[in-house]
This record gives sequence, C-alpha cells and structure tokens, in this order.
Amino acid sequence: MNVYDSEQISKGLKLLQYKMTLSPEMADLIIVNTCAIREKAEQKVFSFLGRLARLKRKKPDLILGVGGCVAQQEGLNMLERVPYLDLVFGTHAISRLPGMIERIEAKKCRIVDVEMPEGIDESVFSVDTDDRDRVTSFVTIMQGCDNYCTYCVVPFVRGREASRSPEKIVGEIRSLVESGIKEVTLLGQNVNSFGKKEGLCSFPELLSLINEIDGLLRIRFTTSHPKDLSDDLIYAFKNLDKLCSHIHLPVQSGSDRVLKRMNRKYSRDYYLAKVDKLRNICPEIAITSDFIVGFPGETEDDFNETIDLINTLQYDDIFAFKYSDRPNVPSALFRHKISEQEKKDRLIELLKSQEYYTKKRNEVLVGSTQPILVEGLSKRQLKTEENSENIQWTGRTSTNKIVNFIPNNDTSFHGGNFSGRIINVRIEKALSHSLQGDTNL
Ligand code: 5AD
Ligand code: SF4
Repeated sequence: MNVYDSEQISKGLKLLQYKMTLSPEMADLIIVNTCAIREKAEQKVFSFLGRLARLKRKKPDLILGVGGCVAQQEGLNMLERVPYLDLVFGTHAISRLPGMIERIEAKKCRIVDVEMPEGIDESVFSVDTDDRDRVTSFVTIMQGCDNYCTYCVVPFVRGREASRSPEKIVGEIRSLVESGIKEVTLLGQNVNSFGKKEGLCSFPELLSLINEIDGLLRIRFTTSHPKDLSDDLIYAFKNLDKLCSHIHLPVQSGSDRVLKRMNRKYSRDYYLAKVDKLRNICPEIAITSDFIVGFPGETEDDFNETIDLINTLQYDDIFAFKYSDRPNVPSALFRHKISEQEKKDRLIELLKSQEYYTKKRNEVLVGSTQPILVEGLSKRQLKTEENSENIQWTGRTSTNKIVNFIPNNDTSFHGGNFSGRIINVRIEKALSHSLQGDTNL
C-alpha cells in the first residue's frame, strides 16, 4: 500500500515538473513516505529525518515533507519535533500535495494537512501511462479498515473502510492494460468485505468483472481477512482463469486465547477449515501468512500452538513480527507484556520452523514446467555489464514465486523482449527465496 501511495505522490510531483534525482543530495524537494504499523518502522522515520537535517542546513531552500501513516498519526507534533520540516501530510491528503508544494514554494510557509474525510477521494487515483516498461501494477479497491484488531494502528491512521465503485476500478484497469500492464494486484486492508458497506457488488463478483478485461493476463489481491473468506471467493480460484493461485491469509496466532484477545473474530479450527477448503478446491494454491509473536499475555503454550499451526499447515512463506505497542490501540494497555528478549527468541524459533517448509514448497517445483509472467531482466542481469548471450530474465509463477531463467536459443522469442509475456519455464533449482529455470522444455 505504501509503494502504491509513493507512486501517487511521485505522479503528483511530476505535474509540477519535478523529476526524480539519483541521490537525496541532488534534490530540491524530498518527501519521506512513512509507515506506522510497528514501532521499528516509526523509529526509522525519525532517524532518517535526523540524517536529512544536514542537507537542509547546506541547502536552506530544500523543501522537506513527510507523508503517510506516521504523518497522519503525529500531525502538528511532527512540525514541532522536527523544526526543519516544511510539510506534514496524512494518508488522505495525497491529491492535495501539488497545491501544498506550490504554496510552500511561493510563501515559504509550513503546512500540516492530516484531514481524513469519510469515503473515497477519487482524485487520488491517477493512471500513469508513461512507464511502458512495467508489467505489473497495484490498483487500490478499498481504503481504511473497520476491524479494530486490538494491536493495529491502521483504523486510526487510514480511517474508516470505504470501497471504490466497480466501474471506476474496471475503468482504471482497462487504462492500465492499454498502457501495457499485464498483471494487477488489487489492494485493500480486507478485500473480502469489498462493497458490503456501500451495497456494491461482492469481491468475487468484482473479480469476475476484472477477469473479463481483454489483454489482462493475471489478477492478484491482498489482503484477505480469514473471517470474511467466503466460499464464492474460494471457488473463484477454480473458476477464474486469470486469478493467480496464491492467497495471503494472515492468521497472526495459532492460539484461540490470543486470537480472542487480538479481536480477530475467528478460531484456530475455523482457520484450519478454510485452508483445507482452499486446498481442496485449488490443490496448487500457495498460501502465505502473517504472524505476531509476543502479544501481551502470550504464554509458552500459546506460542507452541502457533508453532504447531505452522507445522500443520506448511505455508509457502510467512512474515513474522515481534509485537510492539502502537499509539491509541487497545493492546497497548494490556497487561503481561512479553520481554524484548523473549519476543526475539520466539521470532527466531518461529522463522526457523517455517524455513524448512518454504524450501520444501520450492523444491517440489524442481523438474516441473511453470508458466511465468516475465517482469523484466533479473536483478543479477541489471547489475552486470551488457552481455548479449545468456541474458537472465525474471518473472513469477502463478503461485507468486520468483523465477530467474536464461532463455534457450530455440525459444521463439530469442533476441526479443520477454517482458509482459507468459512463457513456460522448466524449474531447475530451488533456492531459499527464488527458483532458477530455463526454457529447454
Ligand atoms: N506489532 C507487531 N506486528 C504488527 N502488525 C500489525 N500491527 C502490529 C503490531 N502492533 C503486523 C500484523 C499485520 C502486518 C501487516 O503487521 O502481522 O498482518
Ligand atoms: Fe489492522 Fe488488518 Fe486488523 Fe484491519 S484487519 S485492524 S488492517 S490487522
């Protein structure tokens, strides 16, 4: 979501004829887009701003702004805490950014805009038709969240849940496809409740509409809340040819006691049954998840239930985080906080348990042939000097695994640009976070 917001910010700045520089030292304007989800992310913002003070001293006309969730949370405090800041703008102010910058340029004033009106502000969404090399794009379908998980700052910094109209979403995707995009990732904090509040179509119905768009090859989405995962969505993985075989389904904990205190509104058994159904309907589906370790009051037994869930489900991959208190959230007031050392130990143990399954899930693909949507040259290739032979490309399987491969001479596309095409790649080798393949089928 932050990557998407940064893109919208940079589109707004382009309207004012700003161009991207190669380094902060060369810039006349620096915008720091921020994340408040965990304490560590927030600390990084302040240490980064500390480093920018030197640039501002050297170049007093440099305009320095902070956007995103930390800006939304701190508002005016931020101007007081960081005296050389010119601008603080929240999560709902991106469309007003160009106007604010013009005012700062003209009047050398300082501005705070953290207004958060209800509903969708359509003017935030603009389609970039400049970047013809890109194959994939994010598309926001909803903003905000109404779930109030007890640890989470999102409802406070991104506001109430609101869905965009299906017509606007489909229109945006059509324009993206016209500009060369082949894959979209639909974004929302809880896509499964899409349209419910506004009485729009359901999320699976929206997926069916998007599946009809000519020229679009793949659809992904994130994030799904398990409590709202409907049978219709599970069947969409079987029935919609463009919907990729991957779901990110954050569970957070394997213990019912902790899930209850997190206000997640589902039980361990409910979650296990959903995963079972997903795997029955779509056997190849990749499932990933998020975990929080060291939630206040999490006992050894609770934690062991989480480890047991990981062993039972054998996820394709996971993200795991140490619990941290956030401003305004209920769990900040919960007793029985877990020590930093204990959280660290649990995180290490959890990640270690998963490591085996991530590798195993990659290894089963060795020897198989996978359709890969090619996204461009591989990272390794981009770093090396131009070499006309053995150029390495990168793309993803439908299950969202990165595949780097060197096309074979016989491949009909040889010598051409592979970007944006789905090609069959034979998987040769599994590494811990990617696969290697070739087109010798
Ligand atoms: N502490 C640690 N992790 C958190 N997350 C959200 N809030 C917190 C918090 N206070 C994690 C959850 C969520 C992911 C995006 O960030 O796992 O799914
Ligand atoms: Fe936060 Fe996700 Fe819960 Fe919403 S559903 S409150 S974004 S963790």
